[in-house]
This record gives sequence, C-alpha cells and structure tokens, in this order.
Amino acid sequence: MIVIQEPAELQSEIKRRRFAAARMGRELSVGLVPTMGYLHEGHASLLRKARANDVVVLSIFVNPIQFGPNEDFERYPRDAQRDLALAEQEGVDIVFMPEVKHMYPQRAKTKVQVSDLTSGLCGASRPGHFDGVTTVVSKLFHIVVPDFAYFGMKDAQQVAVLSQMVRDLNMNVTLVPCPIVREQDGLALSSRNVYLSDEQREQALVLSASLKEARQRIDEGGITTAADLKAFLTDRILSKPLAEIDYVDVLTFPGLEALPENAKIQEIEGDIIAALAVKFGSTRLIDNMLLQKKGVAIYA
Ligand code: PAJ
Repeated sequence: MIVIQEPAELQSEIKRRRFAAARMGRELSVGLVPTMGYLHEGHASLLRKARANDVVVLSIFVNPIQFGPNEDFERYPRDAQRDLALAEQEGVDIVFMPEVKHMYPQRAKTKVQVSDLTSGLCGASRPGHFDGVTTVVSKLFHIVVPDFAYFGMKDAQQVAVLSQMVRDLNMNVTLVPCPIVREQDGLALSSRNVYLSDEQREQALVLSASLKEARQRIDEGGITTAADLKAFLTDRILSKPLAEIDYVDVLTFPGLEALPENAKIQEIEGDIIAALAVKFGSTRLIDNMLLQKKGVAIYA
C-alpha cells in the first residue's frame, strides 16, 4: 500500500499503472472510495466492494468547503494511523491523503453546483454543503479517473446529487450505491457517533428503530400515506426528550420530489425515501430508509 499527498503525484501513479497494464494488453479497472477518514465498518464495506477492481484507491480528506462556519470542521475526529492500519487490512492499494493546501492551494474560482436536488433535506439545513461535496468529489474524479466510485446510502441525498452530477457532466465513472451498515442495535455507523454521550446514544436508537417499525406498519397496512409515515416517525422521535428534529421527510428517490400528502405509499411508482436528521445535543445524526414500490426496504 502506498500513501500519496500530492494530486499530481497520484495522477502520474495512476497513469503509470494504466500504461504498464496496457503494455501487457490489459485494461486496468480503478475503484475509488472517497472518505473523510476516522474509518469504521461502513467505510470498510465500501472498500470490500471496491476490491472487485484491479486498483483500489481510498481518499481520506476532511474537506473544509463542505462544512458551514458553525459546523464541526475543526473538531471532526481524525486518526491517520488507525485509518492507515484499517486501509492496509482491507487491501487498499493507494491511500490519497492530501492536506488542505494540496487540494486548495490558492483561492479557487471554480465550484461544481447541482441545483434542485440540493435545496431540501441536508441542503436546507447546511447551506453550501453540497457545493463543497460536488466540488471535492469532481476534483477526486479528475485526480483518480476511477472506473467505479463507491458511496454509502447512509448519505442518500449525497448519492442522488452525485449521480445527477455524473450524468449532467458526462463523467466517465459508474457510481455504486452501497447499503447502510449498522451497529448490532441498529444505530447507523458514523464517524460522528463518538460525540454522543451514553444517554444520547441510547436515545439515538430511536432513528433506526422508528424506521424499522414504520416499515412493519407499512407492510401490515397501518401506515398507508406519506403523511401517515411522516407523522409516525415524528411522534416516535419526539418521544425521546434529547432528540431535536432537524427534518423528517418522505420524498421520491432519487428525484427527491415531495409527495402529495395523501398519496398511497403502495401505489407510488418508483422508490421513495424516508429521511431523518435529528440533533442530540450538538451532534446531528442522519438516517434513512428506501422503500421500493411494494413497500420493501432494500437499503434499510
Ligand atoms: P464520510 O462521511 O467519511 O463517508 C464516506 C463514505 O462512507 C460515504 O459514501 C458515506 O455514505 C459512507 N458511509 C458512512 N457511514 C456509512 C454507513 N454506516 N454505512 C454505509 N456507508 C457509510 O461522505 C463523506 O465522507 C464526504 O461527503 C465525501 C463523499 C468523502 C466528500 O468529502
């Protein structure tokens, strides 16, 4: 495993490997897993999928431009040594670990912005967040030129936004959405879970528990409309005194369009998503459940 900091160095390394393979009459497939580090099983699951490629590139970069001025950029958890050990274990070939000065050497004048899909959910409560994500991911795609890039459905809106970006800008990469990885008790893995006190963590189980219960009720016919679903999730979450709801929403996926209040979930064409963002103290957690046409969750 090699570790690279400079974008130009990574570009030549990838080029070198592609040329070497081409000389042997082979094509190389390159898989990229972009992360902000402090790796956990969720990230590891993406790395395992990426192993289907000849070369696995893991990027670790806490991207300042996707954090708002009052967000946790400074205190975002970092542990380079542990991340490198995990990367090695998972068979990563190249770790790209730039510093801010390598990715943003001077005041950049270009950003990549996806409209509409970024206005609701996390885009509403984190203005500018998705511009930061699409800009850094475009840069990573230009630096690595991956054939496949792996993203978790934990950040479902991110998957929708990046898929749109790839289509709109004819980027020659296939995005692979991967299922949410959870703790035994249901809590979706997140680098931010370390911020939670024991009491907050206990109460945060309401996110996954309410989604799971909602799915049962949909299957049994107790919840029939998008409005019912939203009301059920809201009530369940508010039963926890430490929970402060940022949003509870039910939308089409990946279009992220609002559903008519009394639209019957079972009759809606295409997938829908129930998405939650809830604060426990200063820690904001997200979770979601994707429901297929017949109310079957595939990414829960
Ligand atoms: P980060 O939060 O580190 O997540 C990196 C990738 O891991 C994302 O695709 C995310 O959806 C996935 N992931 C996180 N928790 C997961 C879980 N419990 N199960 C499955 N996948 C999970 O998302 C980002 O970083 C950044 O926005 C990034 C795309 C790297 C751009 O800076």
